[in-house]
Amino acid sequence: MIAKSTRDNRHTQRHPIQGFSEVGPTAIALARSVRARSIESLNQLLADTLSLRDLYKKHHWQVSGPAFYQLHLLFDKHAAEQGDLADAVAERVQTLGGVSLAATQDVAEATLVPRPPRDREAPQDQMARLLYAHEIVLEEVRAMARSAVAAGDDGTNDLLVSEVIRTNELQAWFVGEHLRQTAASPAQIRRGGMRR
Ligand SMILES: [Fe+2]
Repeated sequence: MIAKSTRDNRHTQRHPIQGFSEVGPTAIALARSVRARSIESLNQLLADTLSLRDLYKKHHWQVSGPAFYQLHLLFDKHAAEQGDLADAVAERVQTLGGVSLAATQDVAEATLVPRPPRDREAPQDQMARLLYAHEIVLEEVRAMARSAVAAGDDGTNDLLVSEVIRTNELQAWFVGEHLRQTAASPAQIRRGGMRR
């Protein structure tokens, strides 16, 4: 087995073709300053979307209780949809001439979604945690969508509104209805997740 330090050294000596904060040329008739702002927003959203995807996977694996099978399937479906959103957001970053976040360590540093415990949580706590994460994403993405349209970046605005906002709202509805079925009280939901 190769020692960790040897592996690290082998890879850090390579020269990048584009720095993470550099904005490269494009032929999409959008000013570099506009693209730079969208790229920054999209990379934040990418980190949060990947965190939400992983939160769904955690809960897909660790779910328990009478609704095990339904939740096991629902969480996996939502994880896959969040994965698709992450792909679209990352590719929008590249389309705008940026460099997308990618490594798990960078995502963990950047994300606004709170780190969940390693422990296995009860289904109602899993769902409250997911709803909280959806609200974080929805709040930031609505602000990002407004900025993008004000700056003339209609393509980013369309991705944020038509795909990211709508998918997150729909997923929050599905999870929220399930939480209602499991008879968690509104106070519990608010404590665990809902901020309004
Ligand atoms: Fe699975």
